[in-house]
This record gives sequence, structure tokens and C-alpha cells, in this order.
Amino acid sequence: MKDIKSDVSRPQKVLLAGATGYIGKYVCETLLNRGFEVLSLGRTTINNENDHNFEQISIDLCSDKEMVEFSQSGRQIDAVISCLGSRAGGRKDAWDVEFGANQNLLNLASTIGAKSFVLLSAICVQKPKLEFQFAKIAFENSLIASGINYSIIRPTAYFKSLAGQIENLKAGKAFVMFGKGVETACKPISAQDLSDYICDCVEDPERQNKVLPIGGPGPSINPTEQGEMLFRLLGKKPKFSRVPSTMFHVISTIMAPLALISEKISDLREFVLIGHYYATESMLFWDAKIQKYSSNKTPEYGSDTLESFYREVLKSGLDGHELGDQKLF
Ligand SMILES: NC(=O)c1ccc[n+]([C@@H]2O[C@H](COP(=O)([O-])OP(=O)(O)OC[C@H]3O[C@@H](n4cnc5c(N)ncnc54)[C@H](OP(=O)(O)O)[C@@H]3O)[C@@H](O)[C@H]2O)c1
Repeated sequence: MKDIKSDVSRPQKVLLAGATGYIGKYVCETLLNRGFEVLSLGRTTINNENDHNFEQISIDLCSDKEMVEFSQSGRQIDAVISCLGSRAGGRKDAWDVEFGANQNLLNLASTIGAKSFVLLSAICVQKPKLEFQFAKIAFENSLIASGINYSIIRPTAYFKSLAGQIENLKAGKAFVMFGKGVETACKPISAQDLSDYICDCVEDPERQNKVLPIGGPGPSINPTEQGEMLFRLLGKKPKFSRVPSTMFHVISTIMAPLALISEKISDLREFVLIGHYYATESMLFWDAKIQKYSSNKTPEYGSDTLESFYREVLKSGLDGHELGDQKLF
């Protein structure tokens, strides 16, 4: 454990939003292990009261009023970390959380004089086509313009997002891929490696005032290779089912007129568009000069491998790596 208390020039108290989420839980634990004091703000509470460095306040991050009231409470905070993300994934929720709640956090950070703001964003915002991506970018821009020291972290896919088919394969089903299963790739990163990277940003000036795309240890992997790896670990003969990604396009076109008159259908159509995006776009650095994704230019961090994650999940199940809305992928 690093002894941060003996160095008063280093950040001591971190406000964490999203501590109940998949990555936020790891970030919270990593901060506490490093000796930081953690103040968690959010609507859901965590059972962590035995750690005297941990405090939580139940607050609606989307409520401007509650957040302004809190900012007048005289709290001293050195750094803010946001691991927020829309749980529902619909168009309105995306703006409420990815933009609105983060903007409230930024206002709070400015009012209480926090020195830095670390934002967990996503690499897919490089080529925005979806509502949640536009909301994320709007906040990234607001953060950059605010004048506070910022670190905008844009990770590639999380290991858990590549684990949605494990139970099906165990049950003897085929691995489902879009297109030929080689059109997209990512450099997946583990939750612990990403959390270490996020927490380093609080202390490392080299990581501040930068947009940081980040992947796990390479090389990049495509869906066919993911399926082959899983079948090898399961000791089963590979069996693939190929679905044309144009399927999403056809469904979204059919839904388009109804989406204009119904918010529910508009959200359903957004999920179809999200499906199409992940079936056709890589989670790698987008090289705008050559208009191509580049595996080589996607920075790597950490040491956990997807293969070791798959081995662990095959042995012990997905406990702690719940897939949420990413189940399909
Ligand atoms: N999945 C991937 O492969 C991937 C890759 C790159 C980037 N990302 C991005 O990484 C971020 C974190 O992902 P994750 O999987 O850790 O997210 P997650 O598990 O869904 O957690 C989201 C967090 O945000 C909080 N939150 C959501 N809506 C809220 C609201 N209205 N008010 C207050 N808190 C709210 C949740 O609190 P509650 O517990 O109260 O719901 C939870 O703590 C997201 O922005 C995501 O887009 C994901």
C-alpha cells in the first residue's frame, strides 16, 4: 500500500461517482487499498461501512438542486472520479446520466475547489453515431472547457463484455458472430487493470489534461478468435453461427417511422442501432488520417489476459462480472 498520508501535497480525498457499478466497485477498492479517503456519491448504497476511509452519501446526481445544496456543505475534496454510465441505455437516460449527472458533478467539483476530474468515457466516442456517444462527447467537451485538470479515459471493451456467450457454449450452442467474425476487433482490458489506470490519473500529472484511449495487453482479438479461444478452453469442437449485420439495419429502418411517435419504440430502435454499431465497429484507436482502426496505435496497459479471465469464468462462473445490458456482446 502506498503511504499517501505522509505526503500532504498528494491528493488525499477522492469523490467517486458510480462506485456501485462494475468498474466503479474496483476503483473504490483500489483507492482504499492505496490509502485514499473515498466519498461515494450516488443513489444506491454500498456495504463498506467497516472501512474508516470510506464514506457514502445518498444523493440524486441528476438533481441540480440536491447537488447545489451539497456543494454548499463545505466539504474538502481533492479529486473527482466519475465511473457513471447509463444503466437503462435509452436516449433520455443517456443524456440524463452521461451528460446531466456528470455536468452536476463538474459544477460541484468547481464549487468545492477540487484539483482534478477523472472521467471514465469510452473509445467508441471517436466515431459517434449513437445517442449515448453524443451525450458522452458533449460532457467531455464541457470538462475540457471548464479549466479544471482533467483526464478523459477512453477504454476499449471490458472483459465482461466479451463473456456474454459462455453459458450458451457450455450448453452446446454455437458461437454467434456478425458478418464473417473478422471485421471488428478490440484490445480488451480487465476491470482491475483499468481501475489501476484510473487511480493513477489522480496522482500522475503526466496523465492530466489529456484524452487517453486505452486497451489491455495486446494483440487485438476479433470475434472468431474469441470463439476459438472459448471452444479450446472448453475442449469442444468450434461451432459458429454467422448472422449478417445488415439485420440490425433492416430492423431499425422498419422501426424508424414508429420511433417518431413513441419514446419506447425510439429506445428499442436505439438498442438495435447499438447492436449494429458493435457488430460493425472496432473498439480500437481510430486513425483519422487513414480513416481506419489501428491496433498498433491503441495504447496497451496492464497484464491481465482475456484467456485467464475466460478460464476463471469457466471455473467459477460470472459472479461479480454481471453482464447487464451488454449481454449480447
Ligand atoms: N462495457 C464496456 O465494455 C465498456 C467499454 C468502455 C467504456 N465503457 C463505459 O464505462 C462506464 C462504466 O461502465 P460500467 O459497466 O462500470 O457501468 P455500470 O456497471 O452500468 O455502472 C454504472 C454506474 O452509474 C451509476 N448510475 C447510473 N445511472 C445513474 C443515475 N441516474 N444516478 C446516479 N447514478 C447512476 C450506477 O449507479 P446504480 O448502482 O445506482 O445504478 C452505477 O454506479 C460507462 O460509461 C460505459 O459506457 C464500457
